[in-house]
Amino acid sequence: MIVAVLTQKGGAGKTTLALHLAGEWARAGASVLLVDADPQASAQDWAEQRARAGRRRLFGMVGLARETLHREVPDLARGITHVVIDGPPRTTALVRSALLAAERVLVPVQPSGFDVWASQAMLDLVAEARVYRPELKAHFVVNRRVVRTRIAREVQRAIASLGVPALEASLAQRVIYAEAAGSGLLAREIDRASPAVREVAALAAEVLRGRP
Ligand SMILES: Nc1ncnc2c1ncn2[C@@H]1O[C@H](COP(=O)(O)OP(=O)(O)O)[C@@H](O)[C@H]1O
Ligand SMILES: [Mg+2]
Repeated sequence: MIVAVLTQKGGAGKTTLALHLAGEWARAGASVLLVDADPQASAQDWAEQRARAGRRRLFGMVGLARETLHREVPDLARGITHVVIDGPPRTTALVRSALLAAERVLVPVQPSGFDVWASQAMLDLVAEARVYRPELKAHFVVNRRVVRTRIAREVQRAIASLGVPALEASLAQRVIYAEAAGSGLLAREIDRASPAVREVAALAAEVLRGRP
């Protein structure tokens, strides 16, 4: 499967989600390739940190922040079980290209009405891509949920009004994700007992289950 994690909002959690999904699927034995489509290359920075710390590689990674993504990804995906595209902020042309390459799109969003509304531009691009690829599936993924709270009703309403469903699984706001970003590790490698481990596993499983 080819999954793109996209939203033009910076800091929404694209790289965090992309790395943890790739790590989770690789751990389960799948061959996984992460395509870093962000010119800022944060996923590749993470991999470099990881190599420096002498940690073993969990999945392949390639930097491909080019508008020809959709033409190159099918070749790269040959023989690979799951490709995860970590999207760029802003750069609309790159996002468009990633949308043409992907079978599924995950749009990370923070649980505030404001953030949900800010995703409208992204959803417009999804609608545009569906003209060519009607089978393209898109879901919101709530990131940075406040621990031990439910998603506020107003946020659920905002999501529902945009016509793209949210996955049931979400990631909470946890220091461990920030630590993971800076250290070349995944949350589970920092602390196997962290609740982050379970939420990442639930998210990775739900994406593969492919809810309609
Ligand atoms: N659920 C979370 N809890 C705590 N920190 C998070 C969480 N998700 C992301 N972050 C942190 O927020 C920053 C931005 O996240 P990142 O995944 O890089 O977003 P993007 O790729 O969309 O720009 C990073 O420092 C990351 O570690
Ligand atoms: Mg990023």
